Amino acid sequence: MEYRHIPVLLAEVTQQLQLHDGSIIVDCTLGGAGHAKRVAQLIAPTGILVGIDQDDAALAAARDTLPLGQHVVLLKGNFGDLDRLLADASIPYVDGFLFDLGVSSPQLDVAGRGFTYQEDVPLDMRMDPSTSQPTAADIINTYSEADLTRVIREYGDERWASRIAAFIVAARGRHQVTTTGELVELIKNAIPASARRTGPHPARRTFQALRIEVNHELEVLERGVRSAVKWLAPGGRVAVITYHSLEDRVVKRVFAEESQGCVCPPDLPVCRCGREPVLRIVTKKPVVPTAAEIDGNPRARSAHLRVAEKQQSNT
Ligand SMILES: C[S@@+](CC[C@H](N)C(=O)[O-])C[C@H]1O[C@@H](n2cnc3c(N)ncnc32)[C@H](O)[C@@H]1O
Repeated sequence: MEYRHIPVLLAEVTQQLQLHDGSIIVDCTLGGAGHAKRVAQLIAPTGILVGIDQDDAALAAARDTLPLGQHVVLLKGNFGDLDRLLADASIPYVDGFLFDLGVSSPQLDVAGRGFTYQEDVPLDMRMDPSTSQPTAADIINTYSEADLTRVIREYGDERWASRIAAFIVAARGRHQVTTTGELVELIKNAIPASARRTGPHPARRTFQALRIEVNHELEVLERGVRSAVKWLAPGGRVAVITYHSLEDRVVKRVFAEESQGCVCPPDLPVCRCGREPVLRIVTKKPVVPTAAEIDGNPRARSAHLRVAEKQQSNT
């Protein structure tokens, strides 16, 4: 299978990471190595590129794309386990991290993964299908109606969450819901026709919600970005591209917390907490793609890039 995925905000990412010969860069979401390939060129000949992905197909594609050798290290794993992955690979420190979140175009296109509502396949949605973690079908068939409503509302921002949950619970009382096609039908039946006529595909929000729940995406993101901050050398940068507001909110909050200095009450004459900012936020507002980029790659439409830099005084 050809692994075609156009890297989003490529020029902006490479510029923000201030790449130069000798940099140690970790791409936490290697995918088709679109960003990684350019990074590897810009840090050659002595820089080190570490590429992480939890998806075997992505790693296999990256192996074909990247100039493998002692300066490129590919690791299979979840960036939620960044500390262990980098320690096991004996990486001393890092000059730049990239997180380009979500699934890649091939993951969406490949039948059988269950990420897309465009085809009828088993409801899986695990980013790493080799794990034993619960699938989307497990969630659909075992969560209480209240928990289904919460997940679909919180992670999908779906106003019809409680109706969709009620339809799921009624349907699974007859037989288990196991395919994306069955779920799409249930969602279509649950959302009134008048509300279905406008906007995106009616199943889009529920599918997003299930994917986030299956892969614990928001918790993993927070853990990954916090670890990255620890591994950064002074002056090093972390760049995160998000594709929906829930992810963007996590990144914004973690950056804000890590860039906070003294937290003493304002009426204290001198600082007692001694807290120093660990990060400096580089992008006060997220960087977004140009209209021309979106024209050429509609997937870039919702991308938001945030960048922060490790303060010199912190190690
Ligand atoms: C949008 S794609 C990255 C595309 C890549 N930047 C490129 O230009 O080709 C996201 C990739 O991150 C991987 N991924 C998502 N969450 C992950 C996680 N928690 N740990 C490791 N890999 C993850 C997915 O498997 C997917 O291959």
